[in-house]
Amino acid sequence: MRTLSFPGLPRVLIVDDEDGVREGLRTLLQREGLHVETAGSAEDGARRLELRSFDLVFLDLQLPGADGLSMLEKFRRGVPPADVVILTGHGTVANTVEAMRKGAADVIEKPGSTDRILAVVRRVLETRQLKNELTWLQDRVRELTATELVGLSPAIRDVQTRIDQVAHAPDTTVLVTGQSGTGKELVARCIHERSARRHGPFVAINCAALTESLLEAELFGYEPGAFTGAQKDGKDGLFAVAAGGTLFLDEIGEMEPTLQAKLLRVLQERSFRRVGGVQDLPADVRIVASTNRDLRQMVQQGNFREDLFYRLNVMTVTVPPLRERSADIPLLSHFFLDQIGRQMGKALSGFTEEAMETLCEYGWPGNVRELRNAIEHACIVCPNGMIDEAHLPKFTGGTPDGSDRIDRGAVVLGGEDRSIRALESQLVAKVLDDTQWNISKAAAILGINRTTLYNKIRAYELGKRPLRAKVAL
Ligand SMILES: Nc1ncnc2c1ncn2[C@@H]1O[C@H](COP(=O)(O)OP(=O)(O)OP(=O)(O)O)[C@@H](O)[C@H]1O
Ligand SMILES: [Mg+2]
Repeated sequence: MRTLSFPGLPRVLIVDDEDGVREGLRTLLQREGLHVETAGSAEDGARRLELRSFDLVFLDLQLPGADGLSMLEKFRRGVPPADVVILTGHGTVANTVEAMRKGAADVIEKPGSTDRILAVVRRVLETRQLKNELTWLQDRVRELTATELVGLSPAIRDVQTRIDQVAHAPDTTVLVTGQSGTGKELVARCIHERSARRHGPFVAINCAALTESLLEAELFGYEPGAFTGAQKDGKDGLFAVAAGGTLFLDEIGEMEPTLQAKLLRVLQERSFRRVGGVQDLPADVRIVASTNRDLRQMVQQGNFREDLFYRLNVMTVTVPPLRERSADIPLLSHFFLDQIGRQMGKALSGFTEEAMETLCEYGWPGNVRELRNAIEHACIVCPNGMIDEAHLPKFTGGTPDGSDRIDRGAVVLGGEDRSIRALESQLVAKVLDDTQWNISKAAAILGINRTTLYNKIRAYELGKRPLRAKVAL
């Protein structure tokens, strides 16, 4: 028979009041090279758990004078939680089912055969090993792609302090406000990654990108046959997908009032229902919502629910516009130059004095996103060496004093295709470009609403901005 091979020496604890069972298992598992301890009573088991952690526990559910199920819970609460295999002599279906519900890895009816016991041990320890490796890899990826909120100005330091404060309250709802492109999503990611929820998923959804019913189905999931066109087996929503992590609701100000009411209910009850479902499911997520609109004013105008506003506004992080922290422009510019240069495999050494002066004097109505785009442009056109003024794009989106003048220059009719569709696609692309993809501004200029604009972006396959939810590692 193949011997078990595990890196390190997994620690196994056997808790059973029958000497024969304990010793039989001990001999079997020690022969496989595992470190084994035994306990003849619940108290002895609990005492050993206090001294060290175990990878695998064999637990007799019928220990005299002890409640096996609460022992199981105790082992599952360890850090890291032990995997528990239930030993049962006279196992009733009821407590076996209950044990599995409380997180037992498997159940073995005594006396289990050698093959069965070793198969269970192998499966449990191998799964555990895979989970450990995954966590290790995720940590490395996280280190490599560390979300970095660059900046040393007092304004950005205040934001950093605020992020640290809210990171320490991993269940509290956070509202991130600021103009478009200031870094609200980055702030949300930082909050997630500095919080106890960092090993869970970070899931983002743009509330303006979907129609009300699609957004509802996307958030809450749905039961089989909940509506025409629904998947046959139903679907998990993002509240389920983000369990244990953070759900980022981008552009919350665009959410329709009926959905606002449903979100309020989730925040109050900490539970949700799938569309077409009747069962309340736990919502184990931290909500971070963001908006570039003045929600308070929207409340006064009757466009946003007041009760939801107060629920969201428990902790607020306000990200200032770039022109209020222009001291950070050189640092941010070098950060992006380094990042983008490396991606492009170009050796770009820095900026000429004139180029940096231009960058520092500009008003940046599109904020950090616009700065990043400008550096990307420069990286493409600069052959190598220093970025000069000539490599920077022609700034048309703002004046040095920061006013948001937008160049509505003509759309050039090029190519053969002069269909209305082709013209519309060019017009939409141009306005998006001019507004640095500020959806609200672009929609206002085009005289359409935001949902229609998103539909057109999708239809004409413009840009690369993600329109659907995305799950981070
Ligand atoms: N302080 C910063 N340090 C490094 N990168 C930043 C910083 N702030 C913003 N960025 C980068 O700028 C870009 C825009 O940021 P982000 O998408 O978070 O802005 P936003 O406020 O969510 O914009 P919008 O309102 O348009 O959705 C991203 O590429 C982000 O990584
Ligand atoms: Mg955003």
